Amino acid sequence: KVLILDFGSQYTQLIARRVRELNIYSEIHPFNKPPKDLDQYKAVILSGSPMSVRSKDAFHPDLSEIRGKKPMLAVCYGAQYLAHFSGGEVAESNTREYGRAKLSFVEDSDTFLEGIHEGSQVWMSHSDTIKILPKNGVLLASTHDVQNAAYKIEGETTYAIQFHPEVYHSTDGKQLLENFLVKIANVNPDWTPNAFVQETVDDLKEKLGNDKVVLGLSGGVDSSVAAMLLHKAIGKNLYCIFVNNGLLRKNEFTDVLEQYKGMGLNVKGVDASARFLDALAGKSDPEDKRKAIGRVFIEVFDDEAHRIEDVKWLAQGTIYPDVIESVSATGGPSATIKSHHNVGGLPDFMKLKIVEPLKALFKDEVRRVGASMDMDKTLLGRHPFPGPGLAIRILGDITAEKVRILQEVDAVFINGLRDAGLYDKVWQAGAILLPVNSVGVMGDERTYEKCVALRAVESTDGMTADWVNLPYEFLQKTSNDIINKVKGVNRVVYDISSKPPATIEWE
Ligand code: XMP
Repeated sequence: KVLILDFGSQYTQLIARRVRELNIYSEIHPFNKPPKDLDQYKAVILSGSPMSVRSKDAFHPDLSEIRGKKPMLAVCYGAQYLAHFSGGEVAESNTREYGRAKLSFVEDSDTFLEGIHEGSQVWMSHSDTIKILPKNGVLLASTHDVQNAAYKIEGETTYAIQFHPEVYHSTDGKQLLENFLVKIANVNPDWTPNAFVQETVDDLKEKLGNDKVVLGLSGGVDSSVAAMLLHKAIGKNLYCIFVNNGLLRKNEFTDVLEQYKGMGLNVKGVDASARFLDALAGKSDPEDKRKAIGRVFIEVFDDEAHRIEDVKWLAQGTIYPDVIESVSATGGPSATIKSHHNVGGLPDFMKLKIVEPLKALFKDEVRRVGASMDMDKTLLGRHPFPGPGLAIRILGDITAEKVRILQEVDAVFINGLRDAGLYDKVWQAGAILLPVNSVGVMGDERTYEKCVALRAVESTDGMTADWVNLPYEFLQKTSNDIINKVKGVNRVVYDISSKPPATIEWE
């Protein structure tokens, strides 16, 4: 496996992801706490950093146990650090170099650059630049603005690049990583989701021993896959709680609960619908609704967790994008648009240790891991569904009757997508109950009833999204079905807004 020493770059996790895409297992460790046993790693990658190597409090770890002893690839800050401490020179660049650049080769016979074309696009993001290469440094490539864009150290398997091979904008980044890891460092590309399951289960066994663990299941992919991993590791010591907040999809609580039991999970279903509805009564503001739901969820979950004697750990299905989004949602530079997501939602008073087996994975990887444990395809292929559920799809205040109407409408839409073979082509879909009535006519009668909006988007991570071009025939049938079958609705519209500037949910 490969060791990634993290200097705090926002891209460090992406390095790990790219390495995994090469079917090579990697572990991220903070630069100041490297693992003791270095023998287990066949190569080391140094990440970028928001710091400047020239700053007094920059990170300057001792690399003497690694450099020259193991193949090493230093990225961005890593490359500068290597230069700064080995007889080179790093200075502030005249302009902050950020964005696309094109590589031109200086030394094109090196294995490191095999399969990469002159002019290949790379992504730069730095404000310092390497003025003088370190001792024994050999220049491999430059860009228009950056003279020392890639170098190696003569006589060692030490390579350094100023740009970021891990971001997609570096077109041949993956090839570079492969050249370094497979051809230069001789790492075997034999890591697979199966191997991840094996390693994670072993780690969990070791970490958790005989301790009891509680986990909240949501019916979604992440918590379900996390549960399966833990189940494999500790069996009945995993206590799963599945709360019905009354805002789930139609029949979801009973169906999914059965499915979980069928998977052998030790799961308790708690129907707290009434408690949630009470807490929501009279609330129309989206953030007020989210807060009320969050609060009641914590109360219900905590009550249940207290029933498990001597529980030590709280497991969460947090995945990597949750980690990034919550960084910006809590104190990062970007404004809180919606107070989403699982991270930080932990009640302090529970004082449990946290275990998050999926923290380093992206959604598609979670699905692959689930598939390798033979989990049900419909469960793994489920669209994302927000924690506050239908509450944020009923605009304005919430009543039991509105929930019923929306559940019916949503079921017609989602089942229709499945029947038409469209479900898997859509990233997320749902219906929204609008707070307006409109006039219609049914038979000879004038009606004055609810209007619903349908939303179906394509996306990869929910950060940006576009509406899906659903076939007219499908929309036509769905609209008819909804109006004919769901009492109280006389009008259906289709949402054709992209994100940004709209968001996926209406609240
Ligand atoms: P937006 O509406 O921000 O949604 O474009 C992006 C993704 O996040 C989901 N979402 C939530 N998930 N709690 C959640 O767990 C929330 O409060 C919440 N709000 C939005 C949304 O369904 C979409 O997948």
